[in-house]
Amino acid sequence: MTVVEARDVQKTYHFGETQVQALRGVSLKIQSGEFVAIWGPSGSGKSTLCNLLGLLDEPSQGQILLKGQAVGTFSDNRLSEVRNEAIGFVFQNFNLVPVLSALENVMLPMQIQGVPLPEAQQRAMALLEEVDLTSHSHHRPTKLSGGQQQRVAIARALVSEPAMVIADEPTANLDSVNADRIIRLMRKVNRTHHTAFLFSTHDDRLLGSVDRHVRLKDGTIEEDVEHQAIDL
Ligand SMILES: Nc1ncnc2c1ncn2[C@@H]1O[C@H](COP(=O)(O)OP(=O)(O)O)[C@@H](O)[C@H]1O
Ligand SMILES: [Mg+2]
Repeated sequence: MTVVEARDVQKTYHFGETQVQALRGVSLKIQSGEFVAIWGPSGSGKSTLCNLLGLLDEPSQGQILLKGQAVGTFSDNRLSEVRNEAIGFVFQNFNLVPVLSALENVMLPMQIQGVPLPEAQQRAMALLEEVDLTSHSHHRPTKLSGGQQQRVAIARALVSEPAMVIADEPTANLDSVNADRIIRLMRKVNRTHHTAFLFSTHDDRLLGSVDRHVRLKDGTIEEDVEHQAIDL
């Protein structure tokens, strides 16, 4: 089943008199349970594509379809509802709330959704266990390493049991040991929960560990290939 699809998508940013064409006609389908990397140099359009596929931004031309439905027709309420339910996000800068503990950061989306506190706490602890951070649940982000912060962010992204997690350069601020650990963790979740993962990277070293990679250059797809992944 296709989770999300970009159909001949273009994105142009305007600022003042200047225009930047960040995506120039990109078509792509992500199937359920896939483990895919988007690779490209800085400025190639990775973040733009992640934001569009994650329904965080709208294309200038073309369509984004979530489970076969064109999201351009959705109301804002419906859009945020389906986004929260279907998609988890992980960002380059972790985006944790600094004054909250690891546990509270993972609980936060559930509290916003009105999940009762004991249940939210229990589910958050189970997710922290999955990312191997049980012993750090009461630490604030500043007391955690970059790799640990990103593991909290992954736990948080899994709260709604999304069909897909989109991670925009999740390893860009990590050393190679921690980067590998994050990829391994995403792979484990991908296999145990059948969650599709789409992550962007400029590090071609990571391409061997995915089932499929998409190469972006100047806002177009240069290559979209499936291959045998090698476990890191
Ligand atoms: N909000 C924005 N306003 C104007 N230009 C932007 C904006 N975001 C990205 N761009 C431009 O769009 C192009 C693609 O950017 P981006 O998607 O961030 O690429 P990547 O994530 O691969 O570095 C770049 O030329 C970038 O400068
Ligand atoms: Mg980027």
